[in-house]
Amino acid sequence: MILERFKGKTAVITGAAQGIGFACAKRLHDEGAICALIDISGEAAQVAAQKISPDTKAYACDVSDRKSVSCTFEQVYNDLGKVDILINNAGITRDAMFHKMTDDQWDTVLAVNLNGVANCCKAVIPAMREANYGKIANLASVSAFGNLGQTNYGAAKAAVIGFTKSLAKECARFNITVNAIAPSYIDTEMLRAVPEKVLEKFISAIPLGRLGLPEELAAIAAFLASDDSSFVTGECIVASGGSYM
Ligand SMILES: NC(=O)c1ccc[n+]([C@@H]2O[C@H](COP(=O)([O-])OP(=O)(O)OC[C@H]3O[C@@H](n4cnc5c(N)ncnc54)[C@H](O)[C@@H]3O)[C@@H](O)[C@H]2O)c1
Repeated sequence: MILERFKGKTAVITGAAQGIGFACAKRLHDEGAICALIDISGEAAQVAAQKISPDTKAYACDVSDRKSVSCTFEQVYNDLGKVDILINNAGITRDAMFHKMTDDQWDTVLAVNLNGVANCCKAVIPAMREANYGKIANLASVSAFGNLGQTNYGAAKAAVIGFTKSLAKECARFNITVNAIAPSYIDTEMLRAVPEKVLEKFISAIPLGRLGLPEELAAIAAFLASDDSSFVTGECIVASGGSYM
């Protein structure tokens, strides 16, 4: 059965050139959405958009840069007319033990993973309130519950969960739902930074015995972006293969 849950809907997905973001964009498109792919690499976003469909749009934008975000969303609104769905997926890691972490590692991770989410929400909330409709899903991480070498990333992702819950409360009366997804280890480029031996150890501790797939995350994002989740807001769905029960 082909679902058409997003027929007539427009969606913006950040960090959509690869990995989970790309899988989300593909899934939303396959179910009928017109998608706008945002990525710090405009070229990679363009290539990704072409892989999805000719009507998929691509934009170069650094989500941590307020000016870049406001200019990009102005363009998105000009091109698509509205934004029904926002998937805040762009994220980075710069791992180091806290006593060795540089100011730059701290600042960059907070700027992209936390400020990036807030910047993009800021760009869509006024119009969503006016439309009395909106679906926002923010990519957090189980690192929010603590992980070695990730004080910066864990702090940013925990803050994303707190941000999600507060924004959900503020926006509920405008029929805007705001939810988070906290994955553990998903098989994308982001994991290439983890040494193979360490990764093997991580996988052996996952009850389902494997890494998650970007498409499995896209299925959760699609649920949160669809009206199937109309009574779900302020939630954080953990996708960890059973690691966090
Ligand atoms: N892969 C995992 O195991 C995992 C686990 C938990 C959470 N997550 C989260 O899921 C999201 C996606 O992760 P992924 O594994 O697909 O990562 P990825 O590295 O494969 O893709 C991230 C994308 O974001 C883009 N990006 C980076 N900085 C940006 C910026 N400043 N502005 C715009 N785009 C930017 C990159 O160019 C890239 O295309 C991230 O928020 C990540 O923190 C991933």
